[in-house]
Amino acid sequence: MNILLGEPFRKWCKTMRKVVLLSTGSTKYGRIDVTAREAALTAAKEAVEKAGIENREIQALYISNVFSMTERQGHLGPLIATSLGVPWIPALTIETACASGGTAFREAYANVAAGFYDCVLVVGTEKVSHLDVVTATTYFSYGSDYQFEAVNGASFPGLYAAMARAHMHQYGTTEEQMASVAVKNHENALHNPKAHFHKKITVEDVLKSRVIASPLKLYDCCPFSDGASAAIVASEEFAKKYTDTLIYVMGSGRATSPAALFDRENMASIPATNLAMNQALKQAKLSRKEIDFLEVHDCFTIAEIMAIEDLGFCEKGEGGKISDEGVTARDGEIPVNPSGGLKAKGHPVGATGVGQINEVYEQLMGEAGKRQVEGAMTALTHNIGATGGTCSLHIFRRGD
Ligand SMILES: CC(C)(COP(=O)(O)OP(=O)(O)OC[C@H]1O[C@@H](n2cnc3c(N)ncnc32)[C@H](O)[C@@H]1OP(=O)(O)O)[C@@H](O)C(=O)NCCC(=O)NCCS
Repeated sequence: MNILLGEPFRKWCKTMRKVVLLSTGSTKYGRIDVTAREAALTAAKEAVEKAGIENREIQALYISNVFSMTERQGHLGPLIATSLGVPWIPALTIETACASGGTAFREAYANVAAGFYDCVLVVGTEKVSHLDVVTATTYFSYGSDYQFEAVNGASFPGLYAAMARAHMHQYGTTEEQMASVAVKNHENALHNPKAHFHKKITVEDVLKSRVIASPLKLYDCCPFSDGASAAIVASEEFAKKYTDTLIYVMGSGRATSPAALFDRENMASIPATNLAMNQALKQAKLSRKEIDFLEVHDCFTIAEIMAIEDLGFCEKGEGGKISDEGVTARDGEIPVNPSGGLKAKGHPVGATGVGQINEVYEQLMGEAGKRQVEGAMTALTHNIGATGGTCSLHIFRRGD
């Protein structure tokens, strides 16, 4: 399969403008006592302040949110734009389930690259802690093929459990290997002040934790989190007025897989990841070896294992093994999720993809403190919707 790599795309790559990630901001993830709309403002204000721009310079607003209706609030755009003092700018809310943040960023990127805008704000925000676990699980399941999956009892933990079983069956992946992903991500989150969890765990803790959907146990799962993250996306020309340290968006990949697992050829793989990766790498003209770390979508431990395989950082079926061997540790050969990932940093659905980009910004600026990946110059974010129906992926590189 080879999508979006034809002549029009090649031509567009030649004419598009260079795009810069000017700044980011984020609330702490976890349980927050404000609305999604208020959290969005906190993250946005931090991003604007860090960029050193005035609110009136923002020309468009892309919002990523999935569940604001549970707070009895839709149409977040004009509310957030008005609170920022720019009620006239075009504002658009984007929903592609858990990939909404990456997708909103992609739209901002494409519009700046095309020359529509010079300076765009992306805000991802979510609040779900007012829902009990059954209600939250039900709302989340609307992101699957509800009519065939959720209505028959397949929640997201259940669907990922089926993917984990398929992976174990085909490749011999073990529960211990999956547990090693959780241990690493909890360790990384210890050094992230904005993470949902600050709790060191062992493989034994994971294996002994209560079963959620066999073979997935409590510590194999991401939590329900609240939180918001923001990013300012600008043309190179605009960005140069505010900073000498330019973080370029080198590649942007977007693809779709069959939404329901029963429509997939292989339940142990997410085809959209591979497609989006090929697009972004080709556009960035970079090889995998040149990428210093990855922020991947580890909503369940098996998801991280599948991601590193489908992204091509190891052979299919080797993901569990290399995780267990420490290859994906912060000081390993391919650091994965230095932020703590969805597993331990948290997964406030609409915010998640923008939060990954926040981590990239802090790492590439050398501002990640104790979780800093030494010498990181190039990074990748991989954001998945549901069981992989959507993939939004970006590659960033700090200018020399
Ligand atoms: C795993 C899950 C069912 C646990 O929910 P729960 O049973 O209601 O758990 P509770 O909220 O009662 O929390 C009980 C304890 O476990 C902790 N906890 C909850 N979820 C956790 C998780 N995923 N990882 C680690 N600890 C977790 C809580 O902090 C709490 O700890 P405490 O007793 O020290 O305060 C829920 O987090 C879940 O469904 N996660 C997946 C969300 C999802 O599907 N997202 C979409 C992905 S595509």
